[in-house]
Amino acid sequence: MDEKKPWGGRFQEETDKFFEDFSESVSFDYKLALYEVKASLAYAQALTEIKILSDSEYKLIYKGLKEIEDEIKKGVFIFRKEYEDVHMNIEKALFEKIGEVAYKLHTGRSRNEQVVTDLRLFLIDKAEELKWSLKNLMKTIIDKAEEYYGIIIPGFTHLQHAQPVLFSHWIMAYYEMMRLHLQRLEDYEKRLKLCPLGSSAFAGCGFNLNRKKIAKNLGFNEPTRNSVFAVSSRDFILELAFILSLIMLDLSRWCEELIIWMSQEFDFIDLPDRYCTGSSLMPQKKNPDGAELIRGKSSIAVGDLIKLMVLIKGLPLSYNRDLQEDKPPIFESLDTVINSIKMMALMIQGLKIKKENIEKYLNKGYLLATELADYLVTKGIPFRKAHYITGQIVLYAEKRGKKLEKLTLEEFQRFSNVIEEDVYKWLTIENAIKRREIFGGTGFKSVKKEIDKAKKEIGYEN
Ligand code: ARG
Repeated sequence: MDEKKPWGGRFQEETDKFFEDFSESVSFDYKLALYEVKASLAYAQALTEIKILSDSEYKLIYKGLKEIEDEIKKGVFIFRKEYEDVHMNIEKALFEKIGEVAYKLHTGRSRNEQVVTDLRLFLIDKAEELKWSLKNLMKTIIDKAEEYYGIIIPGFTHLQHAQPVLFSHWIMAYYEMMRLHLQRLEDYEKRLKLCPLGSSAFAGCGFNLNRKKIAKNLGFNEPTRNSVFAVSSRDFILELAFILSLIMLDLSRWCEELIIWMSQEFDFIDLPDRYCTGSSLMPQKKNPDGAELIRGKSSIAVGDLIKLMVLIKGLPLSYNRDLQEDKPPIFESLDTVINSIKMMALMIQGLKIKKENIEKYLNKGYLLATELADYLVTKGIPFRKAHYITGQIVLYAEKRGKKLEKLTLEEFQRFSNVIEEDVYKWLTIENAIKRREIFGGTGFKSVKKEIDKAKKEIGYEN
């Protein structure tokens, strides 16, 4: 028996060539090959333990699979489209090496469970890689926060000057986003590390395998609890695709900020030449392409999430062939996001702050107006009223092209007689920072503490 198709017995005509190409998945699921071998080894061991395989048969299978593993690692294993997918390719290769014993490995086993087992194993490794890249980016953020500690920038809301803030505090906001993504991935791993093997096509294996042991051998936390769920659910792919999208949305927003900050209108920062390009026509140009590309590539992650959501919508239980289409989007999203995180870290490492330019901007946009309102509150004026009075003072100063701290006491007192000489102590950029030592605020000490805490929590010694 060496039929090309595993279901050949029931069929009277050969598979159509065009359909064969249309339905193959090995051109993309070959990426799961090493996990297929790993899962097959664990499965063979479990079959041996319940005497479906003899010890000598197990040894043969083990040897054959190990050879295949070696060929895959060396890149010399040949994947064939006519064998449809990675599972059949490896089974065929095993047959070619050890003969009919190879077919015993499929006892009680279905590709429906194999594909989700392989995918989960693959994603366990990818989640590790992702966490590593996030941590690397987080360290880079800490480095920048320390390098430019003390520099004050205008903070924005609505992209309008709002209040002064430490640059370190601003950039540590991105640290916080990445920290939560890391946490999200760790939580996701709990749902990822469930082992489907033993679910068979969907009804559960007809041979009493030790599922707990298989799960443990493969590095899962436990076996899946319901065999129908095991082969039908793709939540473990969608959840990751969602986390990947969230990461990319944050990176995209960050890149947008870098792009704006590098424009001539802002001129807050410079990015290294090595991550920028010029124009083929305009000799003066230096464009922040690295940042623009990350912003652009966020569409890939979001698009892939949408593909996956649409893919499963309306699918009845249990396995349906549609599910084969789950792999290209998650593979693409993972590659894109891991590379984007890496690119982001490289750009941030090279980011330079233009302190003198930023300082000029601190004089614009009445960044200290909130301080004046708060000052009035300390003199007993209700905040809403203090806000109104300050608004009037800003309007007055704006018309005269004056900064708040340049108004005379007499001018201030025209708006409120509680204002005294001590108001000027309030109206400095440094004071605005110093007044915010609250937990999570931009105060000098508070930010320093946050940076130290961040270093400790990711085990960073620099
Ligand atoms: N290549 C298939 C996939 O990726 C493997 C499972 C095939 N199962 C089946 N009953 N045809 O989903």
